[in-house]
Amino acid sequence: EKGTYPHFMLKEIDEQPIVMRKIIQEYQDDNGQLKLDQDIRTAMKDADRIYIIAAGTSYHAGLVGKEFIEKLANIPVEVHVASEFSYNMPLLSEKPLFVFISQSGETADSRAVLVKIKELGHPALTLTNVPGSTLSREANYTMHLHAGPEIAVASTKAYTAQIAVLAILAVDTARVKGLELDFDPLQELAIVANAMEVLTDQKEELEQLARDYFGTTRNAFFIGRSTDYHVAQEAALKLKEISYIQAEGFAGGELKHGTIALIEEGTPVIALTTQENVNYSIRGNVQEVVARGANAMVVSMKGLEQDEDAFVIPHVHELLTPLASVIPMQLLAYYAALHRDCDVDKPRNLAKSVTVE
Ligand code: M6R
Repeated sequence: EKGTYPHFMLKEIDEQPIVMRKIIQEYQDDNGQLKLDQDIRTAMKDADRIYIIAAGTSYHAGLVGKEFIEKLANIPVEVHVASEFSYNMPLLSEKPLFVFISQSGETADSRAVLVKIKELGHPALTLTNVPGSTLSREANYTMHLHAGPEIAVASTKAYTAQIAVLAILAVDTARVKGLELDFDPLQELAIVANAMEVLTDQKEELEQLARDYFGTTRNAFFIGRSTDYHVAQEAALKLKEISYIQAEGFAGGELKHGTIALIEEGTPVIALTTQENVNYSIRGNVQEVVARGANAMVVSMKGLEQDEDAFVIPHVHELLTPLASVIPMQLLAYYAALHRDCDVDKPRNLAKSVTVE
């Protein structure tokens, strides 16, 4: 039940710090070490390449997961939109492991891939919020997201739970493989949980920003580089699905290759910057759009901020910034939809779980 909340989406946004703490607890043993099924450990260790299969927001979490697994566990990763996979089936490696990411565990597009790869005899691990769901039952292994029921059509806490669990999976694999790491996911996720609390307390500020930037606009652009690019894509999906504002998330460097032609007087452009190595370049992109009349908003991370930034998120580990930067994006989308009198929890034409291909 949504209790005192006007919408499930707002309640689920607020639950994210609790979900982080629950994940820390569930994936930790009595000695404070990571706790994972032995079978999953073996499957990850044996894989020479990982194929992540997902749709929508879960696909966006997969893009972040690829970075974790490649950077920390040193295994190559491909991320595929489930509905596209079978048209252009990639050349598979010798020992592939398929990782399905699905909040509901019922997405038909992902299930079609699972059926296909099982026929080929490949192993599958499902990350889902619903153990016992189709994708969980039919895969060899399951990792539970522990996000609690997600009712709003717009996925929020499942996205952050997916990213947290992917970080744990990547670090655990690195340890099993004996790789040296100076990244403790449980400690860093605890810092994230605190940052999330700070962020969810800033609703008034974000409501005002939503009014200023999305009040009457017909379209909006989100830009980022590197990790921030993945969050820009998720931010655009969130905004479009509940507020019906046409939104696009793209890589800052791609602006000059086409999209900048769409910038007019007053077009909202939201730029994310949480990574030191892209801070300078993305700010260059902001100047380019401002010079063409855009209404630009910079959301930066503490340590990289400048005076004119509209919103600054607390500092978290550079690998985990999506867990913090997505929260203002979720709240901006929520308030934009609210101000436009949209049905926040049940946007038109959409279902919570998409059980047709
Ligand atoms: O249940 P799943 O995670 O498999 O669902 C995938 C997408 O349908 C889902 O993430 C969708 O994009 C959401 N409405 C996004 O908020």
